[in-house]
Amino acid sequence: MTPAPLFIRPVTPRDAASVADCVDLVARERLWLAAIEGFGLRATDDFIRANLAIGNPHVVAVASNGIVAGWCDIVPPLPWPGFNHVGRLGMGLLPEWRGQGWGSRLIESALGACPRRGFTRIELDVYAHNTAAIALYRKFGFQQEGVKRGIRIIDGETQDMVLMALFPS
Ligand SMILES: CC(C)(COP(=O)(O)OP(=O)(O)OC[C@H]1O[C@@H](n2cnc3c(N)ncnc32)[C@H](O)[C@@H]1OP(=O)(O)O)[C@@H](O)C(=O)NCCC(=O)NCCS
Repeated sequence: MTPAPLFIRPVTPRDAASVADCVDLVARERLWLAAIEGFGLRATDDFIRANLAIGNPHVVAVASNGIVAGWCDIVPPLPWPGFNHVGRLGMGLLPEWRGQGWGSRLIESALGACPRRGFTRIELDVYAHNTAAIALYRKFGFQQEGVKRGIRIIDGETQDMVLMALFPS
């Protein structure tokens, strides 16, 4: 049997540089993420270590050469009492790995860790033009909660943001 080209597993601090590169590349496409560049090695390392310490779901898709090709993390958006059950999902894949089911595998793995973490509301924001991501989220049961109209104006385009949430049973 041919081995799967990517392996989905929890992130480790050793992935920090490759995760930083992966996020940076996807951000620089200027289409899918709010950020238009990555967060750098130090911030990425801190983020990974915090997620491991707290138990926030954070998984990566790794190629056989150790390069991180994609990620999915679910972290609390707000630090205050009353919001500890909420997780905000973020994810992405390098362009060459899209449309082959890896996004589905990443999100399935990250959502699987939510009960352990105590997240009972998973939310996310996605640009309305991101049809692939919206299809993926709907497939996993996310429902639209609203739309922020004209939230970003970039490269001559005015973009809407769709708000989605999932309440895993
Ligand atoms: C969004 C993203 C993570 C989805 O991952 P993926 O591996 O491409 O998605 P999958 O191959 O698992 O497909 C998931 C579903 O979306 C649908 N889909 C995939 N690509 C699509 C496309 N280009 N247009 C419409 N639907 C699409 C498929 O029909 C699939 O459903 P199916 O399994 O029932 O056929 C990936 O495309 C990506 O990294 N995009 C850029 C970064 C990004 O948008 N991040 C999310 C920001 S909110």
